[in-house]
Amino acid sequence: MGIITSIEDLRVLAKRRVPRMFYDYADAGSWTESTYRANGDDFAKIKFRQRVAVNLEHRTLRSTMVGQPVAMPVALAPTGLTGMQHADGEILAARAAEKFGVPFTLSTMSICSIEDVAAHTSAPFWFQLYVMKDRDFIERLIERARAAQCSALVLTLDLQVLGQRHKDLRNGLSAPPKMTLATVLNLLSKPRWGLRMLGTRRHGFGNIIGHAKSVSDMSSLSAWTTQQFDPALSWDDVEWIKRRWGGTLIIKGIMDPDDARLAANSGADALIVSNHGGRQLDGAPSSIAALPAIVEAVGSRIEVHMDGGVRSGQDVIRALALGAKGVYIGRPFLYGLGALGEAGVTTCLEIIRNELDLTMAFCGLRDVNDVDRRILLPGTIPGG
Ligand SMILES: Cc1cc2nc3c(=O)[nH]c(=O)nc-3n(C[C@H](O)[C@H](O)[C@H](O)COP(=O)(O)O)c2cc1C
Repeated sequence: MGIITSIEDLRVLAKRRVPRMFYDYADAGSWTESTYRANGDDFAKIKFRQRVAVNLEHRTLRSTMVGQPVAMPVALAPTGLTGMQHADGEILAARAAEKFGVPFTLSTMSICSIEDVAAHTSAPFWFQLYVMKDRDFIERLIERARAAQCSALVLTLDLQVLGQRHKDLRNGLSAPPKMTLATVLNLLSKPRWGLRMLGTRRHGFGNIIGHAKSVSDMSSLSAWTTQQFDPALSWDDVEWIKRRWGGTLIIKGIMDPDDARLAANSGADALIVSNHGGRQLDGAPSSIAALPAIVEAVGSRIEVHMDGGVRSGQDVIRALALGAKGVYIGRPFLYGLGALGEAGVTTCLEIIRNELDLTMAFCGLRDVNDVDRRILLPGTIPGG
């Protein structure tokens, strides 16, 4: 592989280096993957207005998300099993984010535990919470996030039931991987990954094993999710979690203006317009198409963030132009991690920063906080 110039380059390299089971886990959507594809395709439809002969000196991308300063309004999305894309993946990604000055969000379903990530970083990170039936366990998770000084809780509401991803079923996805002959042969073709995995003790769900009652190992992710995730989750639970946490709360997985109103009523600090990267309800619209109506419904009452399909700094600025205060990247940083570890996550962020900065300049702006709909060509906005 030659020089890396785009997120796509990182993806290609990650595909070569990460065992198929885990590469497929990242690069997959549910059922026909139509929403997964739409997340990217709809971004590409949005055209910019090029402006010229405007002073473009002293440009800045600095902004805030939920009141916290960010080097650019881009955060790393919570992703499960990140430590299977690369040994110690969560710690490496959190470090890259910290050095860059953007938030890192640790998933409930991470390999490295909350305490482990806290011990290996110095900036506060965000913690993403899945609500499970065992409320004692949830209370303890919230306490652990507080003890680790996490500076926001991201409460994911769109995974009461698990979307079917065909590849995961075929690959028998689990952490550590189930050793079928095909898996063993595939692992043998990824020696770099394997050697690093042999060099770490972090192979299971660090937040859960040894913390949740009667969970000592986790053979199949989908079976476990079906047993543990709470299908009865309601807005009353959101209220309960908000009270228990008491800090900055971000609600993730909002796709409908009605739900956006409920999220705003809940008193949360932000919501994330997200279809879980096309991994849950296949057939839902793309996130970028859902964004404008949600901003219109609640944008004055709650900070609106978005994720899904962001593959460049150009996509970041498109989302900002449509009213997002910040965006999250999932797969882009996972590709960076799988390709090149911590340096790959840094490269991913640098690529996005550079594209964001240049696109802002081409549109005639110097401050990312000035970005709004005026930089977009009317008639090219999906859902808008
Ligand atoms: C491999 C993978 C694992 C994920 N795990 C979680 C998770 O544990 N919790 C969560 O709230 N969202 C999870 N998501 C969704 C991401 O937070 C985010 O919504 C999505 O990746 C954004 O789309 P993008 O990958 O196109 O950037 C996951 C996404 C991926 C790709």
